[in-house]
Formats: sequence, structure tokens, C-alpha cells
Amino acid sequence: MELNKNSKFKLNNDKEIPVIGLGVYQLENNSEGEESILHALKEGYRHIDTAAIYGNEDIVGKAIKKSNTSREEIFVTTKLWNDDHDNVEEAFNESLRKLNLDYIDLYLIHWPVSSRNESWKVFKKLYNEGKCKSIGVSNFTVNHLKELMEKTKIKPVVNQVEFNPFLFQKELLDFCKENNIQLVAYSPLTKGQRLNDENLLEIGKKYSKTSAQIILRWAIQHGVIVIPKSGNKERISENLNIFDFNIDEEDMKKLDSLNEDQRTSWDPNEVD
Ligand SMILES: NC(=O)c1ccc[n+]([C@@H]2O[C@H](COP(=O)([O-])OP(=O)(O)OC[C@H]3O[C@@H](n4cnc5c(N)ncnc54)[C@H](OP(=O)(O)O)[C@@H]3O)[C@@H](O)[C@H]2O)c1
Repeated sequence: MELNKNSKFKLNNDKEIPVIGLGVYQLENNSEGEESILHALKEGYRHIDTAAIYGNEDIVGKAIKKSNTSREEIFVTTKLWNDDHDNVEEAFNESLRKLNLDYIDLYLIHWPVSSRNESWKVFKKLYNEGKCKSIGVSNFTVNHLKELMEKTKIKPVVNQVEFNPFLFQKELLDFCKENNIQLVAYSPLTKGQRLNDENLLEIGKKYSKTSAQIILRWAIQHGVIVIPKSGNKERISENLNIFDFNIDEEDMKKLDSLNEDQRTSWDPNEVD
């Protein structure tokens, strides 16, 4: 797979999504946060992942404007928060206003709360009106996806879930591939918790890469989009520098075998 930092994967509605994006969870909604996003855009990131609940859609919009990069070149994802399912359209418009954009590239149901399938109808309306170019879900299990697909002709383009070698969700990945739903890995760096793992450090040494670079590359070689978060300029650059090497099959298997079903966020099987 020949990939570079501008590579994109095709979604099931023929739109394209950049293989790497900047996650902005916990980036402060201030000028420092804005600087981090601006740095990422300067370095070549063309995909930003935010959410209404992160409270920082404003700085995403500001950084995009300041970057002087054309709107069409940047892929912006935001998400409907759990408390807003009664007013989906209002919540969507509020996100659009804070982002100061005319459209959103990808709007996601953040968690599979009980009203998810009803809310999907409003998502379809927003999609058909062109207010968001693609619609998808997050934290959906195979069962949630099956249930939604039975009820709808427009299926989600992506499912954004926690995914890294310590939470290698193989069954979900296979199901999404079979159904042409793109998996997006959140907390791809285990929120920083496992970057000192000896196996990662050892494989990193072999390729002269850091643990972070190894696990991002591992996910992309599995055909999964990654959205690592960093507010630090060096680490933002480091995380993008993963396109000049290839992890061989043996090391891919080693990384696969690190799975411990370790979650850093809620378990979607237990959310309602
Ligand atoms: N859909 C959902 O429910 C959901 C849930 C969680 C996250 N997300 C999305 O996924 C994105 C990423 O997930 P995440 O923020 O939970 O965790 P993550 O990307 O796995 O890890 C971020 C942490 O790792 C550190 N870090 C980043 N690059 C590093 C590097 N090269 N070396 C060492 N440490 C590094 C960061 O610190 P510094 O900032 O100091 O570099 C931060 O503490 C979020 O920002 C958000 O957009 C979605």
C-alpha cells in the first residue's frame, strides 16, 4: 500500500476521507489550542476531528480561516452529543455556527444512545440537503450497525471507535470492511498510556520510529483512519511522519497479538 500524508480512502458514498486527521479532544478553546491546529494545517494535516462536547469547535473554525487553505481541501468532522438527540437540527446548526462553516464534511452520532435510529432520520435529511457531505456513527457495535442498516437505505460511511493494538477490534473491523463502512480509530495512541510498552519500543527501534508512529502506521496498514490528538508542535509533526516506512507482516502480527481488550473510554456495549 503506497500511502503518503495526502492519501485518502474512498467512502461508500464516493466521498474521500484523509487517512490521518488531528483529534482535538481536550485542546483548550483558546489561542494556544488554535495555534496547535494551525500548526497541524501548516504541516499538512487536512482532516480535523472535533465534537460539540469538546467545546472547541470555535478554534477549529478560526484555525481553518487563518490557515488560508481552501475549504474544499480540509475535511472536518463533528459529532452530535448524547443530550441533543431531541433537537438534532438545532445542535447541527449550532456546530456549523461555531465552526463558522457553510457545511460539515462528516457528522457523526457520537454514542449509540436509545434514540439513535430516530436521529438517523434527521441525519439523512441534513445529508440530502447538502449541509453535511457525509453522515456516520461512532461507538457502534456490530449489533448497533446491523440494526441501523435494517432500517435505512443510507448507511453510515464511517464508524469511529476506540482502536489500537491493545484494543484490536478484529470482528468489528471485518464486519465494517464487509459492509463498506470505514473504520476510524479514536484514541489510536491509547491516550498515551501504553507508549512505553516494551514490544512497541522494540519494534520502533527496528524501524527507527517512535511507539506512537508504529501504532499509527499499524492502524493505517489495517485500512483504518487515525485521528491522533496532540497539542504539542513536535508531536503533531511526529504523528504525521509515518509514510516513509512499512511494517512487515511478522511485526503486524506481533502488534495484532498485543490485544488486551483494554478501553480508555466507555464500553459501547454498556451505553444506552
Ligand atoms: N468518538 C469518540 O467517542 C471519541 C472518544 C475519544 C476520542 N475521540 C477522538 O479521537 C482523538 C484522539 O483520541 P484521544 O485524544 O482520546 O487519544 P490519543 O490520540 O490516543 O492520545 C492523545 C494523548 O497522547 C499524547 N500524544 C500525542 N502524540 C504523542 C506522541 N507522538 N508521543 C507521545 N505522546 C503523544 C497527547 O499529549 P500531547 O497533546 O501533550 O501531545 C495526549 O495526551 C480525540 O482527540 C478525538 O478527536 C473520539
